[in-house]
Amino acid sequence: MKIEQKDKKVFFENQGLKKEIHPFWLRERVNGESFVDKKTQQRLFDPTEIKESIEIDSLNLSNNFLEVTFNDGTYTKLAIENILKEFSNTNEVKYIDKIEWDSSLRIFKNFEFRDDLFEGKEMYKALVNFYQYGFVIFKKVPTKNNFIVKFANSIGSVRRTNFGEFFNVKSKPNPNDLAYTSLSLAPHTDNPYRNPVPCIQMLHCIENEVTGGLSTLVDGFTVTQKLKKDFPDFYEILTKIKVRFQFIDQKVVLEDWAEMIQLDESGNFKQVRFSPRLDFVPLIDKEKLDLYYHARKKISELYNSNEYKIKFKLSPGDLLMMDNYRLLHGRTSYEANEGKRFLQGCYIDYDSTEGKLKFLKRKFNF
Ligand code: OGA
Ligand code: ZN
Repeated sequence: MKIEQKDKKVFFENQGLKKEIHPFWLRERVNGESFVDKKTQQRLFDPTEIKESIEIDSLNLSNNFLEVTFNDGTYTKLAIENILKEFSNTNEVKYIDKIEWDSSLRIFKNFEFRDDLFEGKEMYKALVNFYQYGFVIFKKVPTKNNFIVKFANSIGSVRRTNFGEFFNVKSKPNPNDLAYTSLSLAPHTDNPYRNPVPCIQMLHCIENEVTGGLSTLVDGFTVTQKLKKDFPDFYEILTKIKVRFQFIDQKVVLEDWAEMIQLDESGNFKQVRFSPRLDFVPLIDKEKLDLYYHARKKISELYNSNEYKIKFKLSPGDLLMMDNYRLLHGRTSYEANEGKRFLQGCYIDYDSTEGKLKFLKRKFNF
């Protein structure tokens, strides 16, 4: 890709294709001190008030910069690199390739907590790891005073729900969710009934004295790729039918309709939802339902199979941060009389991790 100029016009060339850049687009990017606030990098002018007949009066193109004077008298010097960056207009985290994994995943790097973790290079590496694998584990995270909230707020902002800012996962009387028992939890995604679904879950182990109570994780990306390849009809129907997910609590009824495998506008993986205690397929044709039930059974088999699941025990101080749109999580059952098992959980959204990652990338010039 490169920038060229001819007859007071600016062009960008990409793979042999040359196109003119709209002069208005360049005018909007005028970046002198009186046009853009240095601290916030926000515009000090309203671009909707620029006259539509804007044209270029003079141009100077060097290796790294484009200087433009417009017919309304404004002048700007733009870095070529910044112009080219805007061509693809894609989110930087999209360039971090997902690494598909299954039960053979052995070594995963852990990141140790320290006070300056959130501003340092280790956090950048941890976040890249998170985007590659869909999860990351932090060690030795302080366990007193609901530290998970501080932790989450140091990456971004806690996503509060009707469960509160955070929730205590322990077996308790009159539970409103099976998570608060000592029963095993099959692989699931959290809160598919919310709109939007919380993007990222954190689970922080405070105590884990029981035998059992192991954590399980499954890569929904790997499993859905497998389904797509081996059972295309099943994949197809699970990406098409919007299922109702519901959660009924004392003072709230939460419902949302969505596909079990949700694709983005280019047909690529976006999100999985799976929680067979909470899903209700609409009343559709019997033949379609027939296919749907076979498909759900198959994906459930794959999610639950030992081929895709990793199992590990969280120790006090371990904090597991996982992508709730990509991974399924669960736990094995435990004997509540044997001792204490206490985890604390909370959610954050993608703007938190993306915002932090981009900030650190710029800070360290990665
Ligand atoms: C949850 C959950 C797992 C565990 O609370 O959402 O899945 O290990 N807990 O208790
Ligand atoms: Zn859960």
